[in-house]
Amino acid sequence: MKVVLLEGDGIGPEVTSAACRVVAAAGVAVDWIRADAGLNAAETHGDPLPEVTLDLIRQHRVALKGPCTTPVGKGYRSINVRLRKGLDLYASVRPVKTIPGVKVPYEKVDLIVVRENTEGLYAGLEHQVIPGVIESLRVITKPACERIVRYAFDYARTAGRKRVTFCHKADVMRLSDGLFLECARAVAEEYPFIAFDEKPIDNLCLELALDPSPFDVLVMENLFGDVISDLCAGLVGGLGVVPGANLGSRYAVFEAVHGSAPDIAGQGIANPTAVIRSAAMMLDYVGERAAAARIELAVARTLQAGHGLTKDLGGTGNTQTITDEIIKHLGA
Ligand code: NAI
Repeated sequence: MKVVLLEGDGIGPEVTSAACRVVAAAGVAVDWIRADAGLNAAETHGDPLPEVTLDLIRQHRVALKGPCTTPVGKGYRSINVRLRKGLDLYASVRPVKTIPGVKVPYEKVDLIVVRENTEGLYAGLEHQVIPGVIESLRVITKPACERIVRYAFDYARTAGRKRVTFCHKADVMRLSDGLFLECARAVAEEYPFIAFDEKPIDNLCLELALDPSPFDVLVMENLFGDVISDLCAGLVGGLGVVPGANLGSRYAVFEAVHGSAPDIAGQGIANPTAVIRSAAMMLDYVGERAAAARIELAVARTLQAGHGLTKDLGGTGNTQTITDEIIKHLGA
């Protein structure tokens, strides 16, 4: 099986190579097709997301991606925004589940954040009206609203989930979130067997902080989803453990929630768990379900056993020791 590998920047090469080791140890023979993205690509191709990289993903359909640094204030558009728009990866899916052994103040968290990935304020449409005045356009369209809410319900149906919560700020952004809410209600009627509720985004934050356990599938627009994904990662142990997928109707790119972590890059101490779990999601997507489940179980056992863990998980180990432990537990 061929899968495109974007190592990315900062800790990207360290954590993606750990994930490749685990996939091989799980017995899946993947022929990784390396493609450039990020700062290195900017230097070699003059573009942090060269067309040749997009073409490789179009050819092979599936990619595993490390985080990419987007330099701020240098005229670059976010690589991730371009990738998601360029391949129409309209659904970001982030499963957030309590991991036994990881010390957090919450128990029984088991929710999925489904984020619309192509529109909203991240449409990237900004302009200067006059010096000192900038306008950002928040683009919300009916087809994009309907397909992301439908995605959330289809996900709920196939994953045996019971409730979809649509998160919005329709009382203030009456037209844009008003349209989104209208679409969500209409799509919800197609799924009478799944409960549906609506929650203002500020209330959602309060309730997640107080008790995240009742939430099931959450669906929302781009910016809200970006913020809520990181918040939810914090509920179960932080950025180092939560995996993610960017899915469209043709292509799929799997990546962790975290960024390139320049503060710890090159030291061999990054936690590779989130990318390893993203690789497990990728295997599940391509039908290697048994291997995916084995990796998930090995990660859970490793975190519970507590040996070789990285500093962010309270351990004294490093990228290699935690990867070795996960591989050891694959055989258990
Ligand atoms: P970040 O996620 O890279 O780092 C935030 C904090 O979490 C840092 O203290 C970092 O050391 C820690 N951290 C992150 N991942 C970790 C891991 N696997 N193990 C241990 N500690 C970890 O977020 P930040 O600093 O805001 O962004 C850095 C760069 O990454 C920026 O250029 C940003 O644009 C980019 N970024 C890229 C993303 C992607 O490619 N999907 C997502 C988020 C940010």
